[in-house]
Amino acid sequence: MTDAVVARPGVASPSKPRFAALPPLSLYLHIPWCIRKCPYCDFNSHEAKGDVPESAYVDALVADLEFALPSIWGRRITSIFIGGGTPSLFSAAAIDRLLAAIRARVPLSPEAEITLEANPGTFEREKFTGFHAAGVNRLSLGVQSFNPEHLRALGRVHDENEARRAAEAALAIFGNVNFDLMYALPRQTLAEAQADVAAALAFAPPHLSFYQLTLEPNTLFHRHPPPLPDDDAAADIEDAVHGMLADAGYHHYETSAHARLGSECRHNLNYWRFGDYLGIGAGAHSKLSFPDRIVREIRFRQPKQYLERAAGGDPLAESVEITRDDIGFEFMLNALRLADGVPASLFAERTGHPLALVARALEQATARGLIERDPASIRATALGRRFLNDLQTLFLVDRAREMRSAPLLRLDPVRDGH
Ligand SMILES: C[S@@+](CC[C@H](N)C(=O)[O-])C[C@H]1O[C@@H](n2cnc3c(N)ncnc32)[C@H](O)[C@@H]1O
Ligand code: SF4
Repeated sequence: MTDAVVARPGVASPSKPRFAALPPLSLYLHIPWCIRKCPYCDFNSHEAKGDVPESAYVDALVADLEFALPSIWGRRITSIFIGGGTPSLFSAAAIDRLLAAIRARVPLSPEAEITLEANPGTFEREKFTGFHAAGVNRLSLGVQSFNPEHLRALGRVHDENEARRAAEAALAIFGNVNFDLMYALPRQTLAEAQADVAAALAFAPPHLSFYQLTLEPNTLFHRHPPPLPDDDAAADIEDAVHGMLADAGYHHYETSAHARLGSECRHNLNYWRFGDYLGIGAGAHSKLSFPDRIVREIRFRQPKQYLERAAGGDPLAESVEITRDDIGFEFMLNALRLADGVPASLFAERTGHPLALVARALEQATARGLIERDPASIRATALGRRFLNDLQTLFLVDRAREMRSAPLLRLDPVRDGH
């Protein structure tokens, strides 16, 4: 078994992609329940009322994977990410059964990174040890803040002591750990944000994700906005904290991600380098390449409906082909987030189209100082990173052309994202 599945030569058509080899393939598993819904969160996560049906859900995930097998036949999985929701709500036995079922059905790289998302409010040492024994080798801990008032304002189920205990245990058990932190929190001062980062750095985690709190539609915070720092104050926090992380030896390798060299998240890097991913579970998204097309899929979003449909071998709510008009934008949406950018040759490797497809937009972006003048790579300048949305928008084809590229197959409307 090789990672590079050689594509069948097809009938040449400039509108169809052609791959010398298909991209690396990751697996995402979505677990859609949480103890309580946080007021800022727009992920596909639902308050668990009573016990979560973990056994039926693992069965559904396995049925979903079996449904998907023909789409990934012969390909090796290079990383797994179990996200949510709160996957750490599940027992270690359920995660063990899930990972064993995956290993029995698809080839998994021996060095595959296997991440699980955990909320400190679900922390038990034996559980973390059990996840590790099941094969999870990276833990992503949703700390958010070490400040008790901010944790309360965010409606988190954990306090700062639970955050500290979970952080200590995660590092002792997994070593390879990410902390999620948010900033520009309700009434947060610069000094408080710096104190949060100093508290995180005291644990020396290999990876830190640092997100600005955003008011997402369909959340309680959107309907009743809390008093947030204004844009200037948020920018000051960001600059100060990025400085602290750089001084502490972290590489700011993606818009929100900071890591010690060698501890970058391999699963997310595959997304940003426009690799393939199969997403299974409620509302999960996939991007899969075939010798003559690239397809996006979305699973049914509501847990109850997903459970029924996946068990019946019919988990897909939507499947659309990415058109030649959209592919340049989609590639840039990901690749331009990376501080080091990507080799220019990656465009053809991952989209199946020549770089000439985006030559005009690249020239415009370079002329405006948004992309580095280096023919060997595609990399945003400091200015381009600052105005990333504007830069990415240059790669959008005009609306009229977009409208002509109708989806191939629409099975059911998807109401909201993730
Ligand atoms: C799916 S959650 C992580 C795991 C777990 N559910 C938790 O919250 O602890 C992914 C991360 O996205 C970030 N996040 C969620 N909603 C956000 C928002 N509105 N603005 C900024 N970051 C957000 C949080 O840092 C969160 O840890
Ligand atoms: S932020 Fe995490 S714990 Fe809170 S509702 Fe969203 S997914 Fe659940």
